[in-house]
Order: sequence, then C-alpha cells, then structure tokens
Amino acid sequence: MSKVSVIGAGFVGSTIAHWAVVSGGCQMVVLHDIVEGLAKGKVLDLIQAGPIARHSVDAIGTSDLNDTADSDLVIITAGVARKPGMTREDLVATNAKIVGSVVTEVAKLSPHAILLIMTNPLDTMTYVALKSSGFPRERVIGQAGVLDGGRMRTFIAMETGISPENIHTTVLGGHGDEMVPLVRYSHIAGMPLKYFLSDEQIERIVERTRNGGAEIVQYLKTGSAYYAPGAAAWRMAEAIVRNKREIVPASVYLQGEYGLNDICFGVPVMLGCTGVERIIELELNEDERVALNKSADLIRGTMKDLKLETA
Ligand code: 2OP
Repeated sequence: MSKVSVIGAGFVGSTIAHWAVVSGGCQMVVLHDIVEGLAKGKVLDLIQAGPIARHSVDAIGTSDLNDTADSDLVIITAGVARKPGMTREDLVATNAKIVGSVVTEVAKLSPHAILLIMTNPLDTMTYVALKSSGFPRERVIGQAGVLDGGRMRTFIAMETGISPENIHTTVLGGHGDEMVPLVRYSHIAGMPLKYFLSDEQIERIVERTRNGGAEIVQYLKTGSAYYAPGAAAWRMAEAIVRNKREIVPASVYLQGEYGLNDICFGVPVMLGCTGVERIIELELNEDERVALNKSADLIRGTMKDLKLETA
C-alpha cells in the first residue's frame, strides 16, 4: 500500500497528481491546497478522466492537511513561483515560511514519510524541510537534477537529431544559475558528447541548460515550468514507491561528501523505498570541482539571507 500526498495544487502539484493517478504507481493520491475547493475541483476533474483514459487510482482533493496522515511519500510543491527577471533565490523568504510551516505539520501527521521537495530555491527549501521535519537526511530529498538533466538531453537531441532516449546526462550542484552540467559524465549511446558535437555546440547546450527554467519563465510571464518538473518529480517518486533503487541526481544533505558540509546539494543518489539508500561520489577534475564549489557558494549565500546555519 502506498499513499502519496502532494502539497500545493498549482500547476506543478496538479501535474504531479496527474502522473500519480495515470501511472497507477500508488494506491492512494491526496492533493492538498490551502485554497478552499482548488484541490477538490482538480481531483474531481482528474478522476473523471479515469473511465476515459482507463485509470482508477483512489484520489482525493482537500484543504484539510489531516487527510494526508500516514502518507508514505509527501511531495511539497507549496510556495510561489518566479516571474520574469526573478531568480529562484528571490523567492527565499516567502517560500521558507510556507515550506517550514507546512513541513512541520506534515511531519507530525506522517512521521515515517519520505519528503520530496519541489519548491524553489530548491536546495535551500530542502534544507528548511530537513530542519523543520527533524527527519533523517535519507528521507528529505529535493528534485532538481532529473529536471535539469532532462533539459540537457532535450537540447542535445535538438542539436544532433538523435533520440533523447540515447542521451544520458549528469547535472549536479544547486538548482540555480550555477548548476553544473557535467559533460564528462554525459554521453550519447555510450559515446562522448564530443563524438557528435563541437566544443561550441556543447558550450551552448550547457548554457541553455543552466537557463532552462528562466527561458520558460520569459515566455510564460506569470509563472514557471511545470510539465518537465512534474515528470521529474514522478520519476523520483516512482523510484521510491516501487523501490527501484534507481540512480538519479537529487538534492540531499551532505556531511562531508564532495568536501561539503551542512548544505543540501545536487549529487547522484540511489533512490529506493527507504529514500536515499546511497550517495555516490564521482571523481571530479579540478575544473569540475571549482564549478561545484561555486554552485555551493550560491546556495550558502541564499542560506545566509535566511540566517540558516552553514558550516
Ligand atoms: C524550473 O527550473 C521551476 O525550478 C523550476 O523550471
């Protein structure tokens, strides 16, 4: 039996709820939003698609957090999204209050749950959730690298004309403008990117990946991406609820790994039914290490704004 709750019925939250219902990967889906009626209306719509699209997972929409009690997985999307010209970091004060209070309640209601954090600025919000929940680090996980890696795969496919299914990418670090697309750990059907792409093309792809979220915000004007973030969240959720033990990049609390301490940061992890089962430390060259440290510095700056402790 797996019960998955999604907190926040905005575009990201409702897209995840859609994936959860359509995939049939869990027995019970709860979509919650503090706005009365919003989650209820969306779930009613979602389950009415069931007879047509042939899915029949139990789902409820609610504005009562008590309905999320005893969840196995709680996906936190609550918070505001950025608008054109804003960085993810600009959201920190508002979203820290929202994530802090909602996670405190969620942790009491579902003390054994795994928390998957989607709210920006992602790494700092994962840290806030870790501290507010009091959960062990294995059970508080931020989604970032699956989305960023998906974007990089898309851009490589667009540039080469090769199926994205042949393309594997690794994007580590913080989910911000200093994220680190690792070209050396990315490949096309086992071959290095350089086999198909010039240095200039690779550089262009790396830059576009870093700005992938902002590019969409520029077009949408009133919010940020949700289809790819929702798909990324569900990919991670499935690894957890189906105990797939899949290796994906995720933001997790580091205690010395990659030379970093007391920070949530994107690194490769193995995900299964207990959450993070293993953190994988890649061998990095000097340039890669410098890039990761620069990315960590950006997160530390955001954490300082919030007056969170950093080592
Ligand atoms: C993005 O990169 C919303 O952070 C999310 O699109």
